[in-house]
Amino acid sequence: MASISTKIGNFSLENPVILASGILDETSGSILRALKSGAGAAVTKSIGMQERKGYPTPVISEIKTGLLNAVGLANPGIDNFVDEYKNFPEKKRTIVSIFGGSVEDFVTLARKVEGAGFDKVELNLSCPHVSGVGSEVGEDLEMVEEIISSIKTKTNLQVWAKLTPNVTDIVALAKASEKADAYVLINTLRAIGVEIYSRKFSLSNVVGGYSGPGIKPVALRAVYDVYKETGKDIVGVGGITTWEDAIEFFLLGARAVQVGTALLYEDYPIYNKISRGIEGYLDSEGFSKLGDIVGVMSGNAALQSH
Ligand SMILES: Cc1cc2nc3c(=O)[nH]c(=O)nc-3n(C[C@H](O)[C@H](O)[C@H](O)COP(=O)(O)O)c2cc1C
Repeated sequence: MASISTKIGNFSLENPVILASGILDETSGSILRALKSGAGAAVTKSIGMQERKGYPTPVISEIKTGLLNAVGLANPGIDNFVDEYKNFPEKKRTIVSIFGGSVEDFVTLARKVEGAGFDKVELNLSCPHVSGVGSEVGEDLEMVEEIISSIKTKTNLQVWAKLTPNVTDIVALAKASEKADAYVLINTLRAIGVEIYSRKFSLSNVVGGYSGPGIKPVALRAVYDVYKETGKDIVGVGGITTWEDAIEFFLLGARAVQVGTALLYEDYPIYNKISRGIEGYLDSEGFSKLGDIVGVMSGNAALQSH
């Protein structure tokens, strides 16, 4: 049987299928359930400095090719989060997603995450930039660079930088994030839904994030471009609903994948189903391990040795 184990930065995973941030609530019970159902690791919902209730409904709208959501970063705040996870048994397989509007916020959050016994953070760089009207933190390359280098200097955490696709040049954003241990590609695409009979927007916030099968080609392009330029560890995310989708991401350079929206279609068994499918593909195509197919379609990236 082929090996599907993988490594992202210094983190070894038995299987490469990870729960994406935000699809479940942030509670430890939901994360544990995903891990017990076969996810190799899990990312929490994004946690900020203060508790936030999020936007009024509707916050989710289903469309033919996926989902639109504008939850409004609803979360319990870092201190409540730390309390909730005090005795959590799976801290090493859990990546804590954090968001903030400034470098200071990110550093404070990262320190609290480390203090709570976790060793990995995923940076959600897609929240509104406090000083930039309508822009995302992730569009400000200097700020992204400073957030990552500050966290790397002031903590021992592994840092995964989750990049926004809502930029003209995602490779430039990746280069600004090069001190991160891995890239997570991609977050949702900024989008709008329209209800023609009520003549209202589908989401109370008007603009939301597009996820699910329709965004897969965009995510694949981001993985391809960034891997070719950097050869760095990449976690692919966006529209994965089957093992075949996951294989596409590996061939272009991802070493692991995250699955989000598909969980709403298929529920928890999906993680195991995708892992078994990957194993079956490697066996039937004559590969002995996942690493044998990573990046084979993306040319001569400066491959890191694993
Ligand atoms: C309802 C919902 C909530 C989300 N919340 C977060 C979040 O809190 N932080 C984050 O980084 N990404 C969040 N995302 C984005 C996902 O983690 C993922 O990047 C995106 O949905 C694309 O993957 P998918 O097509 O498999 O869902 C959310 C997505 C959805 C659908």
